[in-house]
Amino acid sequence: MRNLPLAKDEKNRLVDAAQQVRERSYSPYSGFKVGAAVLTDNDQIFTGTNIENASYGLTVCAERNAIFSAVGAGHKKFKALALITQKIPGVKFGSPCGACLQVMSEFMSLKTPIYIAVLEQKKRTIYTKTLGDLLPFTFTKFTEK
Ligand code: THU
Repeated sequence: MRNLPLAKDEKNRLVDAAQQVRERSYSPYSGFKVGAAVLTDNDQIFTGTNIENASYGLTVCAERNAIFSAVGAGHKKFKALALITQKIPGVKFGSPCGACLQVMSEFMSLKTPIYIAVLEQKKRTIYTKTLGDLLPFTFTKFTEK
């Protein structure tokens, strides 16, 4: 599958889905809501939000929840991923965390577009990166000889 940037409408639809699910974020400890959405190779959208826990380390990020939900429904090929957060002061956009990038690399080529949307008051800015921009080196599967 070739990974091309999405058409504007398709990109906005994916970011809209991420923005919608972000409202369901369970983040009472950080107060930081994240929404994510993946587009499968057959154009279905699966979403996920961050879900925190009183035992902080058990928190699962929005991106992994979106990917796992799609994989659990039988999808393993993706055209793109979008995530959305509030503006982090002093930072242009919030990159997905390293753990989520590694999980993305299991199912997505390094050319896959990652749309990072930032909400600031009523303004939404979308930055486009590829998985390879964010994680140039990945740990890959190996088989013992
Ligand atoms: N978080 C995500 O959902 N995605 C990321 O890529 C980074 C962080 C969540 C985890 C936690 O609930 C909150 O953001 C603050 O770290």
